[in-house]
Amino acid sequence: MRRIEQGVTRPEPIAVEIDGASVMAHPGETVAVAVLASASRRFRDDRSGAPRGMFCNMGTCSECTVWAALGTSPWRRVRGCLVLAEPTLRISTRDPESRP
Ligand code: FES
Repeated sequence: MRRIEQGVTRPEPIAVEIDGASVMAHPGETVAVAVLASASRRFRDDRSGAPRGMFCNMGTCSECTVWAALGTSPWRRVRGCLVLAEPTLRISTRDPESRP
């Protein structure tokens, strides 16, 4: 995904962590936007292991579900299109508890 840059004024970007990599997001953008701006653009996997992407962008379908933790708080599952990106936010597209 490419952000529109010409003729747009945004606040200074913040860094969020997605699957261990630093990704820049602007205040006011959602976790879903940050994931789309990342290199992988993938959200969760379905039961067959195929990657899923966001669909409705309004909190209805849950296709954008990821795990998120603010700072050292515990991981919780969130719908990425409903949660704003914040500094110190960590995002995982896989269950952090099941990582090797
Ligand atoms: S994209 Fe459907 S709930 Fe987020």
